[in-house]
This record gives sequence, structure tokens and C-alpha cells, in this order.
Amino acid sequence: MATSGDLVDFARGLPKAELHLHIEGTLEPELMFELARRNGVPLPYASVDDVRRAYIFSDLQSFLDIYYAGCRVLLKEQDFYDLTWAYLTRAVSQGVRHAEIFFDPQTHTDRGVPFESVVTGIRRALHDGEARFRITSGLIMCFLRHLSADAATRTLHEALPFKKWILAVGLDSSEVGHPPAKFEDVYNRAREAGFLAVAHAGEEGPPAYVWEALDILKARRIDHGVRCVEDDRLVGRLVEEQIPLTVCPLSNVKLRVFPNLRAHNLKQLLDRGLLVTVNSDDPAYFGGYVADNFRDTAAALGLGREQLLTLARNSFVASFVSEEQRRAYLGDVERFAAQPSLKTIS
Ligand code: HPA
Ligand code: ZN
Repeated sequence: MATSGDLVDFARGLPKAELHLHIEGTLEPELMFELARRNGVPLPYASVDDVRRAYIFSDLQSFLDIYYAGCRVLLKEQDFYDLTWAYLTRAVSQGVRHAEIFFDPQTHTDRGVPFESVVTGIRRALHDGEARFRITSGLIMCFLRHLSADAATRTLHEALPFKKWILAVGLDSSEVGHPPAKFEDVYNRAREAGFLAVAHAGEEGPPAYVWEALDILKARRIDHGVRCVEDDRLVGRLVEEQIPLTVCPLSNVKLRVFPNLRAHNLKQLLDRGLLVTVNSDDPAYFGGYVADNFRDTAAALGLGREQLLTLARNSFVASFVSEEQRRAYLGDVERFAAQPSLKTIS
């Protein structure tokens, strides 16, 4: 049996891709305060500890209210640079080799921040991150599903001049009551323009939303998707087509999708042959970055070395990197696994 120290080292060292990470969800309270001061934005918190104390959520919406409020300190291109740079410096220490990162432009453009400031700031940091840390990356532009389909279409138009920096479109925010079908038209346009498609579905919403994401939006990955187990035919389809699920265990506990980590269905999803990955979602709000998700989930569910290696391999298999890049990253996982000093994990 592994000691907890071994598990920490193994989870951190394991080369991995992060595929479900909202850049706005990496805003740590310290940076929130710094940006608030720099931009003269008042905060409803007295201190960093006061912010952390406010991070108790009863469901997705209770989190989103606080998450969107935190975003108000992000105004200038440099703010988006600093936010993304801070994430990358943490990601390196979590074994992240490749990150496909969500951003929510409407959260910013609706406050008068130019689309260009958002995407240029993030992109500049990703470029510097690749040069400094050799972390490769891609950007996924999410539409806010609680807003209208027309607003999503306007956002798609704003993104077109920056298309070379944006890999895919995604769908996030309040799930229940906003089924994927609402965004059929804008997803058709986005795919015609050459964007790949992913979508959040089956986090709080029913399996029917996962079907819609697959059949109507032609999503290539499902973000969360944990409620798929309520529909055996859906599980069969996801297994048959090896459609990845980007699962976020600590997020699911904080937002009460599961009462605790021991009750999480990640092991069941793996055992049923689904292409599952482990990710951090909004780590500044949910108490852990991606290696922390690997470690805590392994400890709670009794995952062993082979299952952690499978999760790491899955992260590269599920990513949108080139085949050549994928082979290189999978080779890194095998080299990591072959290190004699890491054989103690059960
Ligand atoms: N679900 C939906 N929308 C989100 C999330 C999430 O987990 N995180 C940030 N926006
Ligand atoms: Zn998410």
C-alpha cells in the first residue's frame, strides 16, 4: 500500500493534460485583491480569509454567483495575462504538460471589456508559458448557456478575427433549463468555421442533455457527464465511441453533485470502460489543482498505480493534440511509470 507521501509525489509527477479548466476559476483571492486595488474595483470582502470563508456552495448556481462577481476585477489585457500566468506556474508543479483552457468572453464583454483584451492577454501568457515551461495549450471559448442563443452568435462573430488562437467552442454556466439544443444553430456555424465542439452536460442536468450535446451539437468531448450512468444506453454509446468525459471530482463535491469523494462515481465510470479524465474545473474555488484531484480521488476511492496511469494516458488520448504530439506525451507517461523509485504505489 502506498504511503500518502508516495501518492502525493506520484500524482504530482505523473505527466498529464488538463482538459477542463476555466481560466476565470483560477483567480486566487490574493490576485483578486491585487487586481481590485490596481483597478479601483470595490470588493465585498474584508480580507483574503474572508473570501475563502465565502466559498461554501449549495449547488452550481450558488457557485456561479460568486464566480461571476469575482470576475469584476478583470478589466485590462494585463489582468488576463497575470491570471493565466499564475495558473501556468501552478500547473507546472502539478505535472501538467498540456492544457486546453476554457474562457468565458461574455462574462467580460458584457461589462464593457473588449473581446480583444481578454483573448490577447490569455494568449500572450500561454505563448510565454510554452517558451518558459514547455506547456502546450489550446483555448476553448465557452458560450454562457443562461444567455440567449443570439448573444452566443454575436460572440462567435467577435471571435472570428482571433480564430487561429481558439481551438474549440464549449458551453458552460447554469445547466438545468438551458439544454444544448438551444445552441444548435451557433454550434453549426462554429463547426462550419472550423472550431471543434465540446459541451458541459450531465453535471446537474439529465442524461438527455448529454444525448443532445452529442447528437445536436456534435460535441467531441463531454465536460463532466457524470450523470450518464443513469442511462445504460448512453453509457453504451459513450463507451462504443470512446467519447471522453472530463470529470472534476473536487468540483463535484463542492457543488454537491456527490456528497463526498468516497461517493463519487469515477471508479465506476473507469470500470465500465469510459474514457474518463480527471480535471480541476475552477481550482481557486474548489480547493485543489489537477494533481490534488488525482491524489484526493485516489485516496478516497482506493485507486492504484495502474488506474492513475490510465487516467494520465486518457488525458492525452482525449486531448486535441496532433497524433505526433500525442505519441510523445504518451511516451512521457510510460517513462514516468518505468522509474524504479516510483514502484511503491500499489
Ligand atoms: N459548470 C458550469 N459552468 C461553469 C463551471 C461548471 O462546473 N465552472 C465554471 N463555469
Ligand atoms: Zn466546468
